[in-house]
Amino acid sequence: MDSLRHIVENTLVPHSAFVEASIRIEQCMRYAVDSPEPVCLAIVGESRTGNTRVLEEYASKYSPARTKEGLNIPILAVKSPSKPTVKGMAELMLQIMGDPRFDSGTENAKTIRLKRLMKNAGTYQIVLDEFQHFYDKGLRGVMHHMADWLKILVDDTKAALVVSGLPSCMAVLEQNEQLAGRFFAPVVMPRFDWTNTEHREEFMGILGAFQESIGSHFDIPRLDHEEMGFRCYCATGGLIGYLSKFLRSAVWNAIDTNKKIITLDDFRLAHKSAVWSCEQISNTLSPFSRKFQATFAEELIAQAREIGLPKAQVAVSRSKNSTPRVARPRNI
Ligand SMILES: Nc1ncnc2c1ncn2[C@@H]1O[C@H](COP(=O)(O)OP(=O)(O)O)[C@@H](O)[C@H]1O
Ligand SMILES: [Mg+2]
Repeated sequence: MDSLRHIVENTLVPHSAFVEASIRIEQCMRYAVDSPEPVCLAIVGESRTGNTRVLEEYASKYSPARTKEGLNIPILAVKSPSKPTVKGMAELMLQIMGDPRFDSGTENAKTIRLKRLMKNAGTYQIVLDEFQHFYDKGLRGVMHHMADWLKILVDDTKAALVVSGLPSCMAVLEQNEQLAGRFFAPVVMPRFDWTNTEHREEFMGILGAFQESIGSHFDIPRLDHEEMGFRCYCATGGLIGYLSKFLRSAVWNAIDTNKKIITLDDFRLAHKSAVWSCEQISNTLSPFSRKFQATFAEELIAQAREIGLPKAQVAVSRSKNSTPRVARPRNI
């Protein structure tokens, strides 16, 4: 029963961007071995496009191991705190490296200790998530002290660096030439767009993967049919994070009520609590309602593209595009 509960998380969909990101991270690590200069890579994407999952899957292949020579930690995987400082970041990294006295010593002493621990543990790659926190939105500037510290850390340890985060994290590189010079072109994790054929096919492929895993345990409305695909797109804005969230919720509801059949209405309820409530959408017809007209309408697509965006960004994009949109239904 427990594995059934995790059926959605345990389904890993190797869509194109996921595969590309995984290959590029691996390459980055291999290049770093021979390169005289540090090799760095950024994986960027809006929230819920799957940035973190890429890093997690990668890091899980190189987990720490105890050897005769001591602890081997090939990858130092760390998440930037929301307000990073050198002291805080060094402490966090020391803690991950297993230093029991991670919070003692000056900033400098901590950094020296960190470099030594990384060398001893054979750490050849730093994977840093939530890198957008290196950009201070309030001050509209990069925390240069942090960025410089990170640059020196990778220079001195010769570790490959992979950063990941929201698109705003690119500002850290744009405003820090020295760090930027060490980076390859970024990998962009997409939000799938229904009007783009490649994206639509990719999204349908993802639905197919979930159909296979969930459908082998539950009787569900066929996810990978075009009409259901469009409903799922309108319900999630093409964000894999929202898709998996509402599917997980539907599975949990079924398990908790001892059901083997998940209906369209169950999708509607799961989606309402898992996605519509986060998005504070209450007065719009659910894409999983029987009354929903699953025909291609500009209005529906425009609405889906706003799902998951910060509310301030939605307001800006609406004011830029203030001509009234008219829904023109067409067959999909
Ligand atoms: N390739 C994938 N296959 C299956 N599930 C995924 C995939 N990518 C992301 N997810 C799921 O989507 C959710 C959000 O992903 P996450 O990596 O946290 O997004 P982000 O870091 O971009 O906000 C998680 O539950 C994650 O397991
Ligand atoms: Mg994330």
